[in-house]
Amino acid sequence: MFKFLVEEIDSIMRRDPAARSRFEVALCNPGFQATLFYRLANAAWRRDWHLTARFLSQVARWFTGIEIHPGASIGRRLFIDHGMGVVIGETSHIGDDVTLYHDVTLGGVAPSVDSDSQRNQKRHPTLQSGVIVGSGAQILGPITVGSNARVGANAVVTKDVPSCVTVVGIPGKVVQPAAKREEQPSFVAYGTPTGDLPDPVARAIEGLLDEVSRLRARVADLEAQAKAGGEVDGLAVEPTAEDGSAELPRGKC
Ligand SMILES: CC(C)(COP(=O)(O)OP(=O)(O)OC[C@H]1O[C@@H](n2cnc3c(N)ncnc32)[C@H](O)[C@@H]1OP(=O)(O)O)[C@@H](O)C(=O)NCCC(=O)NCCS
Repeated sequence: MFKFLVEEIDSIMRRDPAARSRFEVALCNPGFQATLFYRLANAAWRRDWHLTARFLSQVARWFTGIEIHPGASIGRRLFIDHGMGVVIGETSHIGDDVTLYHDVTLGGVAPSVDSDSQRNQKRHPTLQSGVIVGSGAQILGPITVGSNARVGANAVVTKDVPSCVTVVGIPGKVVQPAAKREEQPSFVAYGTPTGDLPDPVARAIEGLLDEVSRLRARVADLEAQAKAGGEVDGLAVEPTAEDGSAELPRGKC
């Protein structure tokens, strides 16, 4: 038990630049406290003491502002920084070494619609190991966020996220290829490494500009051939007028 607590506290100290001592984490870190309450509540839940389990999670919510349903499954070394407003739904699965900032929701897409048919169904997300979720992000539905992926602050994610990428925005879009992510350290405080993230929109514009240059060169080439007369791409053409107002060779287009 002592070893387990030390492991949890040390993992928080590694990821929180503001943490100064183990004692401070134990006393003042709401994520650590809520996770301890969750472990108790989850043990009760697994014994079918559902009311006790829900009550324990409610007590944790009063003290920390973090609501973890006792039925959720959570791996080792979860770090919830600041905590207030975090909601972790009943059928969520969280791997090891996951980091959540405040106001994160792991929720259902439409829990209030036809609720009866949703009972005991997987309706909350799965976060694989090493995922970092920025403050205010909403991850909704029975989707999977792949290992070591990062979800930007305030993103809304409703589709699966591959491993080792970063998603930002509403709806969440990938802004970084997996290969780049592998070059980076496994954890950076606040989930904000300064690494270079290629913007997919900029990449698309660059590709279009290349294509336009290629087409311009091709048109210039064709115009030169048309002016000279003879054959252009296998078609016989008449020489064009100097002003460029070419007459199409009749019946040959
Ligand atoms: C997503 C995140 C991890 C990316 O960080 P990064 O690797 O340094 O990436 P960059 O800052 O270079 O951003 C890359 C692009 O995504 C955009 N972007 C980054 N975070 C974004 C966000 N949360 N929402 C929308 N766009 C975002 C940037 O503007 C940039 O766009 P550009 O290429 O058009 O300039 C980080 O921005 C983030 O949101 N971290 C969460 C931090 C948090 O919750 N802190 C709370 C601490 S209390």
